[in-house]
Amino acid sequence: MKTVLVAAGPTRERIDPVRFISNRSTGAFGYEIAREAIRRGMRAVLVSGPTGLVGPRGARVVRVESALEMRREVMRELAKADIIVMAAAVCDWRVKRPASGKIKRHGGRVRLELVENRDIAAEVGRKKGKRVLVGFALETGSLEKNARKKLKEKNLDIVVANRISPTKDVFGCGKTDVIIIDRAGHKIVAKNRSKRELARIIIGKII
Ligand code: CTP
Repeated sequence: MKTVLVAAGPTRERIDPVRFISNRSTGAFGYEIAREAIRRGMRAVLVSGPTGLVGPRGARVVRVESALEMRREVMRELAKADIIVMAAAVCDWRVKRPASGKIKRHGGRVRLELVENRDIAAEVGRKKGKRVLVGFALETGSLEKNARKKLKEKNLDIVVANRISPTKDVFGCGKTDVIIIDRAGHKIVAKNRSKRELARIIIGKII
């Protein structure tokens, strides 16, 4: 029985005990991929950032908050996985020094220093051996070009490229257009599909 490790949802980067930086990911795509993997007879482990979603029946869900925690759990689960799907919207930056107490208002500016988080997909790409690695590429422009670049640089086997409109809110919305590209350069264009339909296409392609 194959094991699929899916990283899903956003991460939260702590500013102080009550505030954080995050993004608009809902986690829906990753959860649908885990659901479809189980439907196709695989074992699914979902490393999930904070979402309002219930894990699909049969999946083992590991809840995390920050990118650092997500990296730790993905690396911990890697040895047991045959397929890794990095569907998470990992925050690219974290606050260098989160405050231990609530930051008080004082009528002036507050500066936050951000440092870059490590690229989990790229690290998996270096360590994956024979495992299959699927990554996503969220882009507002040059979709295919940037997706091919990520495929190569992160050593992915498949990249799912998703265009984000700079103005329209497409997060969590019903239908999406994606381009799926594999290592050999083969391309599937899927337009106006639900995340469930896309999960079927992606799992089918992995198999
Ligand atoms: N990713 C990751 N770790 C990060 C950032 C991204 O594992 N610190 C993964 C995502 O899960 C996704 C892929 O890398 O599978 C691409 O994410 P994306 O946000 O499109 O791109 P970035 O690599 O962050 O590049 P940029 O933001 O410059 O477009």
